[in-house]
Amino acid sequence: MTHSYLLGIDVGTQGTKAVVISPEGRVVAEGQSSYQFQSLKAGWAEQHPSVWWEAVTESIRQLWRKGMSPNDIKAVGVTGQMHSLVLLGEDGKELREAILWNDVRTMNECKEIEDKIGADRIYDITKNAVLPGFTAPKLLWVKKYEQAVFDKIAHVLMPKDYIVYKLSGIMSADVSDASGTSLFDTEKRDWSAELIKGLGFDIEWFPEVHESSEVVGSIDQKASDQTGLPLHIPVVAGAGDNAAAALGNGIYKESVATISIGTSGTVFTPLKKLPLLKRTEGNTMHLFCHCLPDMWHAMGTTLSAGMSLKWLKEAFYNETYEDILTHIDQVDPGCSGLLFLPYLNGERTPINNPDAKGVFFGMQYIHRQEHFARAVIEGVSFSLKDCLLMIKENGIPVEKIYATGGAVKNKWWTRILADVLQQNLHIHKEREGPAYGASILAGLGIGIWDNVTELDSLFNQEEVIQYDEKTELVYDKQYRKYKNIYKALEDHF
Ligand code: XUL
Repeated sequence: MTHSYLLGIDVGTQGTKAVVISPEGRVVAEGQSSYQFQSLKAGWAEQHPSVWWEAVTESIRQLWRKGMSPNDIKAVGVTGQMHSLVLLGEDGKELREAILWNDVRTMNECKEIEDKIGADRIYDITKNAVLPGFTAPKLLWVKKYEQAVFDKIAHVLMPKDYIVYKLSGIMSADVSDASGTSLFDTEKRDWSAELIKGLGFDIEWFPEVHESSEVVGSIDQKASDQTGLPLHIPVVAGAGDNAAAALGNGIYKESVATISIGTSGTVFTPLKKLPLLKRTEGNTMHLFCHCLPDMWHAMGTTLSAGMSLKWLKEAFYNETYEDILTHIDQVDPGCSGLLFLPYLNGERTPINNPDAKGVFFGMQYIHRQEHFARAVIEGVSFSLKDCLLMIKENGIPVEKIYATGGAVKNKWWTRILADVLQQNLHIHKEREGPAYGASILAGLGIGIWDNVTELDSLFNQEEVIQYDEKTELVYDKQYRKYKNIYKALEDHF
């Protein structure tokens, strides 16, 4: 008996994941492969696209080794890290390493872009301020500092578009990822020729943009040989990882949000209409297209969420995450005054400060390793609270929150986050994550489900993490301190 399974692939910052789901939404197989990014200079983050492709082929091949039959896969969806700049030449080969979303070298280029186009004009088109994580400033940086590379550019892709290209030979873009480039008309859901030409780029570099579940191509012979996937099965355009993670959590209704803790941390809430906002200085809330037609979303991003704990582990512990979190139940909320600012590679929202640095504040004799581990999780939770408040301050309500991403598997992350936000958190067991969302896009693309409302039945099992009211006072105090310490240090970073 053959099945109608769907494959979702997530090209993350620290690894790829392949997930196969059934039409009932059950995860039937998973594969994964890890890698690192390089930071050759402070504030830089790069990765060669070929590393992603190798990891994708390995993750898919794991599925067959685990007993999955390739012939059961009927369609493929890809998602991945947003904003990261992939440059290809005329021959479709990579021209340099991708410059990643968490690379903050381009503050000057952001300013130049806003000066050239006009900050209000670019906001009116893209619905966003130009921020160092976004793609256009990275492209301008290449133009300024790597003319030889710039002169050879024939194609500009996002990471998941590069994988779609490797799978199908077709270059495409989708509305959710394209919204994060600073070159996209978010309301019209299409590239902005005005911005692309106005910044001295070539409109021909940018592939046709699609709704995320549209079929854009099919597995070609080369990809079939390399991955073992059946020849000619459809590949959909796919989506940026945050939109896909939201879909993978059933987040397509307003007032509901996902908080995702992976390498980055994001707060994401869908919108049926774009809010009528005008640019105001310092408002860094993201407004992008959702991966479902006629939907948009608001978002805030903290750059080093899971990455902060990884940094702590590698810098001081050299143990597993389980080891470093074992004793944190012995530490009181608020860590007896120890506080962490997670700005290890600067910060995006709300403060947009590439120069900000990580800080431990308030160390005393009483503090032990476990205090530092807990302080990191509390500090990341404060930065997520900042993102949530930024969205609410823009008049967008958030009532119910789902937690997602690698970190939710650890109870300490979700408990502390719930307490810091003073709000219960919901978790979809199993049905979560960008790769799961990408497989849903594949199913929508080939008509397994005709309408998004049919997906509701996939999301009927959830766990609730109750927040502890007793921690309110201490976390209110620590959060005030978190804000004040940043303000006090801002001029010294
Ligand atoms: C979102 C962002 C990150 C990446 C991580 O704006 O930059 O969440 O998408 O993969």
